[in-house]
Amino acid sequence: MLVKLLTIVFFFSLLLKSSSQFLNFTYNGFHRPLTADITLQGITTVTPSGLLKLTDTTIQKTGRAFYTQPIRFKDSPNETVSSFSTTFVFAIRSQIPILSGHGIAFVVTPNFGLPFATASQYLGLFNIRNNGNDTNNVFAVELDTIRNTEFNDTDDNHLGIDINSLTSIKSALAGYWNESGQFTNLSLISRKPMQVWVDYDGHTHQIDVTIAPLNHEKPTKPLVSTVRDLSRVLLQDMLVGFSSSTGSVLSEHFVLGWSFGVNGKAPSLDLRRLPKFPESEPRRFGIWLFIGASILLLFIAMLIFLVRFILRRRRKFAEELEDWETEFRKNRLKFKDLYYATNGFKEKDLIGSGGFGRVYKGVMPKTKKEIAVKRVSNESRQGLKEFVAEIVSIGRMSHRNLVPLLGYCRRREELLLVYDHMPNGSLDKYLHNSPEVALDWNQRIKIIKGVASALFFLHEDWEQVVIHRDVKSSNVLLDSEHNGRLGDFGLARLCGHGTEPDTTNVAGTWGYLAPDHLRTGRATTATDVFAFGVLLLEVACGRRPIEVQDSVSGERVFLVDWVFQFWIDGNILGAKDPNLWYDYEVGEIEMVLKLGLLCSQSDPENRPTMRQVLHYLRGDVMLPNLSPSDLRGSDRLLGIPEVGFSESSLSTGGSSVTNSLLSGGR
Ligand SMILES: Nc1ncnc2c1ncn2[C@@H]1O[C@H](COP(=O)(O)OP(=O)(O)OP(=O)(O)O)[C@@H](O)[C@H]1O
Ligand SMILES: *[C@@H]1O[C@H](CO)[C@@H](O)[C@H](O)[C@H]1NC(C)=O
Ligand SMILES: *[C@@H]1O[C@H](CO)[C@@H](O)[C@H](O)[C@H]1NC(C)=O
Ligand SMILES: *[C@@H]1O[C@H](CO)[C@@H](O)[C@H](O)[C@H]1NC(C)=O
Ligand SMILES: *[C@@H]1O[C@H](CO)[C@@H](O)[C@H](O)[C@H]1NC(C)=O
Ligand SMILES: *[C@@H]1O[C@H](CO)[C@@H](O)[C@H](O)[C@H]1NC(C)=O
Ligand SMILES: *[C@@H]1O[C@H](CO)[C@@H](O)[C@H](O)[C@H]1NC(C)=O
Ligand SMILES: [Mg+2]
Repeated sequence: MLVKLLTIVFFFSLLLKSSSQFLNFTYNGFHRPLTADITLQGITTVTPSGLLKLTDTTIQKTGRAFYTQPIRFKDSPNETVSSFSTTFVFAIRSQIPILSGHGIAFVVTPNFGLPFATASQYLGLFNIRNNGNDTNNVFAVELDTIRNTEFNDTDDNHLGIDINSLTSIKSALAGYWNESGQFTNLSLISRKPMQVWVDYDGHTHQIDVTIAPLNHEKPTKPLVSTVRDLSRVLLQDMLVGFSSSTGSVLSEHFVLGWSFGVNGKAPSLDLRRLPKFPESEPRRFGIWLFIGASILLLFIAMLIFLVRFILRRRRKFAEELEDWETEFRKNRLKFKDLYYATNGFKEKDLIGSGGFGRVYKGVMPKTKKEIAVKRVSNESRQGLKEFVAEIVSIGRMSHRNLVPLLGYCRRREELLLVYDHMPNGSLDKYLHNSPEVALDWNQRIKIIKGVASALFFLHEDWEQVVIHRDVKSSNVLLDSEHNGRLGDFGLARLCGHGTEPDTTNVAGTWGYLAPDHLRTGRATTATDVFAFGVLLLEVACGRRPIEVQDSVSGERVFLVDWVFQFWIDGNILGAKDPNLWYDYEVGEIEMVLKLGLLCSQSDPENRPTMRQVLHYLRGDVMLPNLSPSDLRGSDRLLGIPEVGFSESSLSTGGSSVTNSLLSGGR
């Protein structure tokens, strides 16, 4: 009776035991919330589309995923391991199509830890120390994509059965036997999903590993097959899952679906429900989005570049045009043309620079005409309109002794005046600094007459009175026939226009400035005559209007005083240029010297007009027979007038006129 009872209890307990051993689970994709039963380790993640992504594209990393509940493989610690089977679908995607690292392993392990397991060839299972140690109690099926000779790998595309070691007890090249018994190679890194089956028979200890492409029937003949009792390997309760690792090649390892069963077959996977691989729609969309965005970005960048280029060009060649200028449109030149004509205003093409700006030589691109471009900075726009009107109208008139003005151009703070280029430069270069080519007297008198007729033209022969304001030797340019041509008319007014009555802002050139001009601040035809007189003396004497006598004390000698002194001494011819050896008419040179003094008297009333000057020069009218006392008698000649001219008033800065001369004038 007792025996009977015991047997019943025993059978019941057996029944209970065996039912507790019976377990299976299925993952047709790892959609939430199923993944709650899965423990992720390392770099493993689950993608939104339900892929178990064991590794991402970071190098030298491991990733693992385990079914969270331990599985009972033995009824008691000393019994044999029960039958179990598993199937899963995996895919490997490597950045380099022909190379990948390092593979996936289905693993049965006693604990989550896999202590000190390393990446790369160790697949996150072992490390160099514990690989091959029987106390590991690990059973694994490796899908190995790298050939590691230290583990006796035969190739880089194989499946192997591993017990406590990465050196497989049995392995085979990836592939399968189809229905007609033909072997077909498979490439594990082909980026195609493939299905793997692992079956262990608890009675026969038969271990079978099979692989086939997705949607292929399970091949009847397994790929790797061996007999090994796992009872000494596996403990009573074990974890099942996957482990993977990356080496130096960026590779993603995926598991698409997985089922497992102990003491029974693993449920078959519903392949239609598996997540798509590759993650078709969103990813392709992503790629298109990426491509589209890049193209758009590129386009925008190009556009920005283009716009900036155009804007910069615009700014570079920007000009100003106001309403009042429309009538001068004919005379306006494009800044762009001037820019190219002068090679971008290069230093190389600079001919000279004066008080108003720099002068560049250029060649007009279309007509090949040689030009001189004067860039005048023009912050105060006062008198600009009148100035432009004047120069344009004079330019239109074209007097043979004026430097032809071809046109002008206006920019933000700049006025560009375009003249004919005068091949022989300015007169001052022939007179001073021991010139290489000295002009003979006939050339000089021709130049003087030319300048005089130009000034006369400006003063009297033109529809309105034009005052030059800056008659001097550097503004007399010589054309190819050494004709004197007057340039730069009117500029002085533009730049030094007095606005307030108490600050007489005088512009002109020191040494050519008439005392009345300094005193009143007003330029008149008489002040032009004064400057012309100084120019006459300069040409005849070859001396500057003001010469520094003594470089130490800085004492200056005014040309007018200097010549006058010769006259007083009764030897006016002693003042003539020593470079004039012969070849001159004594009477003519004397006439020029006296006329120079006559013009540069301090009293404007006593100066002749340009009409008279022209008559004297041409010899139509004889110069009255003058003596020094005539000029002196007619009161305070000369170079040293009451204000402005003397050295003392300059240095003490006493008079307001001198102050404004120093600050505002030139
Ligand atoms: N049309 C031109 N053809 C050839 N050279 C010229 C021309 N215009 C000017 N130059 C040269 O450029 C130099 C500078 O001229 P710029 O008029 O700027 O100065 P400046 O005559 O010395 O003084 P200012 O500013 O009072 O006129 C002149 O000395 C002359 O040699
Ligand atoms: C298992 O076997 C060992 C010796 O191999 C023995 O000492 C132990 O008592 C056994 N345990 C059970 C539960 O049978
Ligand atoms: C195997 O591992 C155990 C425990 O970690 C250790 O004590 C033993 O020495 C190892 N055996 C070998 C051969 O390394
Ligand atoms: C690897 O193979 C060689 C020869 O094929 C053999 O001598 C060696 O023992 C093997 N190593 C392991 C760890 O099985
Ligand atoms: C089996 O594979 C071979 C070669 O790969 C092929 O020629 C044959 O058609 C296949 N048989 C079947 C039934 O698919
Ligand atoms: C399979 O792969 C092996 C090794 O790469 C090669 O030798 C064999 O020819 C391949 N077989 C087929 C059918 O491609
Ligand atoms: C899986 O287990 C359940 C009970 O938990 C059972 O009904 C089912 O038949 C099992 N499936 C397979 C394929 O063994
Ligand atoms: Mg000049």
